[in-house]
Amino acid sequence: MPVITFANTKGGAGKTTAALLLATELANTGARVTILDADPQHWISHWHEISGKIANIDVISFVSLASIQAHLSENRARTDYFIIDLAGARNTLMATAIGLSDHVLIPIQGCAMDAKGGAQVLEILAQLEKNAGIRIDHSVVLTRVNSLVTTRALQVVKQLLAQRAVRVLDTPIVERAAFRDIFDCGGTLGDMYPNRVSNLDKACQNARAFAEEVCKLVPLRAVNRLRRAA
Ligand SMILES: Nc1ncnc2c1ncn2[C@@H]1O[C@H](COP(=O)(O)OP(=O)(O)O)[C@@H](O)[C@H]1O
Ligand SMILES: [Mg+2]
Repeated sequence: MPVITFANTKGGAGKTTAALLLATELANTGARVTILDADPQHWISHWHEISGKIANIDVISFVSLASIQAHLSENRARTDYFIIDLAGARNTLMATAIGLSDHVLIPIQGCAMDAKGGAQVLEILAQLEKNAGIRIDHSVVLTRVNSLVTTRALQVVKQLLAQRAVRVLDTPIVERAAFRDIFDCGGTLGDMYPNRVSNLDKACQNARAFAEEVCKLVPLRAVNRLRRAA
């Protein structure tokens, strides 16, 4: 049961949105997903409350430094994927979650401030490798990308990442109304009405392509550190 963590020390980078899209897409394919909601804003917990029961998804709402490891070990028998949504802050919980992950996804909007928050996560990953010899696989996912134009800021961020040889997912998460509305309406993209949400079909395709790409990088057979240590 791989652990996938969304991290960027800047708030508003698109972590929670990307985490929820991945969770709902994985659940839709039949995988059992447990989301650890470590974002103090608790958007995913709120989404879960208004959604009612969603097949294959469990949400753990209160995650602390003291409890995170226990949440993983207690739920691993009934979980195919763990998804951790972190606060937009650099703290010990973040470093611990990263250390327990099989893959860290770093959502970055095409802007310099977001790239800086992403760079801080890359720094933590580099420190872990240098100081403890632990290499955690990771990728950047570009978020809130304009579906029509490539902005100059986005090109600059892409160049920066290429220079640092950081993997960037081929599928960016596009700016879509459906990805905002899902937090207001609850449920999944599949529960929305195409006549009420613009470009719902494109949003669904985008979320599916994102999840498929992540699944290729983090196949179910990946075994997390916790299990290896057990
Ligand atoms: N792909 C997207 N399309 C539309 N709105 C988005 C998208 N990604 C994020 N948002 C909006 O941007 C804001 C910040 O996103 P959020 O996922 O909460 O970021 P974070 O968890 O990094 O703080 C929210 O209002 C969210 O609805
Ligand atoms: Mg968040």
